[in-house]
This record gives sequence, structure tokens and C-alpha cells, in this order.
Amino acid sequence: MKFIIGSDHGGYALKEQVRGILESLGYAVEDVGCHGEDSVDYPRFGKEVAARVASGEFPRGCLICGSGVGMSIMANRFQGVRAALCNDLYTAILSRRHNNANILVMGGRLIGSELAKEIVTTWLRTPFEGGRHERRVAQLDNL
Ligand code: RB5
Repeated sequence: MKFIIGSDHGGYALKEQVRGILESLGYAVEDVGCHGEDSVDYPRFGKEVAARVASGEFPRGCLICGSGVGMSIMANRFQGVRAALCNDLYTAILSRRHNNANILVMGGRLIGSELAKEIVTTWLRTPFEGGRHERRVAQLDNL
């Protein structure tokens, strides 16, 4: 499966780790950057990942900045994107079960690498429950 990822400098180290996790699980990963720890502006990377998920080019993506907040704000401006800021495991589970999240957002400065690994692998394997949540998720795009 295809997967698109991006970060700013605050999320760079964790993005590198996430790319490795995804590749080890067999995903074909497109990394839109950034590609180092020099300071960059997160909206540019958030926009590219969100636009390409919104267009259907990628079914799922991952965005990481320092806190995860800026990337979440950017990504959720795109219709069809359901970006979930998950800095804990239970939010990661619920964001898939109830919200059918299609972009996982994390704060690279807030969580350690072991927790991040658990969050990513759990988020990937947790299915959407559908049912009553199907109707609610459909309402998200009915502005
Ligand atoms: C960059 O310093 C920081 O503001 C950014 O990574 C992110 O946390 C924004 O929400």
C-alpha cells in the first residue's frame, strides 16, 4: 500500500523513524520532506501531504511537527482529510475506530520513539467500526 509522510524540523527525527517502520511493514513510502533539522515552515509540508490524500492519490498519510498542532490545523483544512493528532495510544485507536482518520499526526517533541512506534503500528492495524460512525464521518464533509 502507498503512504505519504511529511514533517517540519521539529518532527524530522520521528519522521525518519516512521518511514523505517512503514517500509519494514511493506509500505511504499513517499517522503515529501523536510530532509534535515534546519528550520522550515510546517504549512508547506502539511499542505502537500493533505492535498495528496484529499485527491485520493494516497489513501493514508502521516504528518509530524513539534507538537502536532500546526500540522493538524493545516491538514484538516482539506475536504476529505481526517487528520488526528495522536500523542497517546488510546487516541490512535479511537481515531481509527470512530473517525476513520486518514492522516496520523504526532508531535515529535512530545513523544518518545517506543510510544511512537506503538502509535503508528496500532493506528495502521485498527479498523474503522462503521455503523453509527459512518453517518457522523459523512457529516464532516457536509459544510
Ligand atoms: C516549530 O518550532 C513548531 O512551531 C512546529 O514544529 C509545530 O509545533 C507547530 O505547531
